[in-house]
Amino acid sequence: MAAREVLKMGNPNLRQVAAPVVDFSSRELEDLVADLWDTMATEGGVGIAAPQIGVSLRVVVFGMEVHPRGLDVPPVPRTVLINPIITPLDDETELGWEGCLSVPGMRGMVRRHLHIRYSGFTESGHSFEHEVEGYHARVVQHECDHLDGVLYPQRMDDLTLFGYEDEIAASLALEEPEQA
Ligand code: NI
Repeated sequence: MAAREVLKMGNPNLRQVAAPVVDFSSRELEDLVADLWDTMATEGGVGIAAPQIGVSLRVVVFGMEVHPRGLDVPPVPRTVLINPIITPLDDETELGWEGCLSVPGMRGMVRRHLHIRYSGFTESGHSFEHEVEGYHARVVQHECDHLDGVLYPQRMDDLTLFGYEDEIAASLALEEPEQA
């Protein structure tokens, strides 16, 4: 398997609603998951969604022990999440910096639910469910947005907090950045 090209904001494929996976035993699904991990590693991300490599299926992968670019964020277990459902557990939200492999070089401040439950399937078709908070919850929400054709700038409510990574790093403390 191999790293694939990451589509960038403006590509219409990133605006599509992806289709659910129905066949969990296919070689294509196995290859897709391997390509997602390889692409994420090559690009230095903490997560990636299938539509970002041009595959319109509801598949995301995310997680790392240590942030690939040394940012101070908590570890997130490496997870393959297929056909996800996200349920906010309360009304609490949190602002945090995000980036995206499809919006290279940029960062923006995005409001996300602080506590969520998410459920879905592994690549072998087993269902699972997790309750998570904070950075882990942010990563899941960001990745799953890709499956509905949504990029993080569309979630921003203050576009003055959207800009180039180096300029933002120079002017602000990047507390919870993400590259996903
Ligand atoms: Ni992204």
